Amino acid sequence: MRGIILSGGHGTRLNPCTKVTSKQLLPVYNRPMIYYPLNTLIKAGIKEILIIIAPERAGDYLNLLGSGKQFGVKLTYEIQDSPKGLPEAFILGENFIDADDVALILGDNIFEDDLSSEIQSFKNGGKIFAKAVPDPERFGVVEVDANFKAVSIEEKPTVPKSNLCITGLYIYDARVIEVAKNLTPSARGETEITDLHKWYLERGELEVSQVKGEWIDAGTFDSLLAAQHLAKEKLQNKLVI
Ligand code: G1P
Repeated sequence: MRGIILSGGHGTRLNPCTKVTSKQLLPVYNRPMIYYPLNTLIKAGIKEILIIIAPERAGDYLNLLGSGKQFGVKLTYEIQDSPKGLPEAFILGENFIDADDVALILGDNIFEDDLSSEIQSFKNGGKIFAKAVPDPERFGVVEVDANFKAVSIEEKPTVPKSNLCITGLYIYDARVIEVAKNLTPSARGETEITDLHKWYLERGELEVSQVKGEWIDAGTFDSLLAAQHLAKEKLQNKLVI
């Protein structure tokens, strides 16, 4: 399995802190933010990782992470000129993915759980990671049956059918590349990752795994502060890099 970290965008919600650097390079306690999703992938044994970055920040990423040799992995980079939606990661990553399975993690997503066995047990189709949250309307939402099988998926519904938010870690087989190429942009002008989930759901090939520990999308000042506390209090002895 290959890994992709989507770390582009302008981080406008964190202005002015993101005026001269990337959101995903801001400190989360004693590591740059991207170290946390990188830990999630490296712990799971993924050795080839593509990092998708904005052109004006490319030098910062190379200076910080380089080849990845120091972490025992191979890092490569791809430039995203302007963000067109999360599924673009699979189009930019087409050559990198080749015919392999791929785990995509968002560069600002921080998980308390060790998800290694859930990542390693992936066979084919798609797998998403859901977390019960008090404000599901802010996210992609998955409704599940008594056996935790996905029933419906909606992007930021006004009236959510469940409190299960779809976190920013997704695993798909290589078919995702062609599916991503055929998506049409939503009302917000971007292609939606929920449309990829739906493609697998319609075929009965979408698995839902439950995230039990804390999960934070560190893209706002308040969630960034919460991430700092999570990192200090619960993640220090779990990090491999
Ligand atoms: C994106 C996805 C959404 C997912 C969220 C997780 O939302 O579209 O389905 O729940 O990431 O962080 P966005 O951050 O683009 O609003």
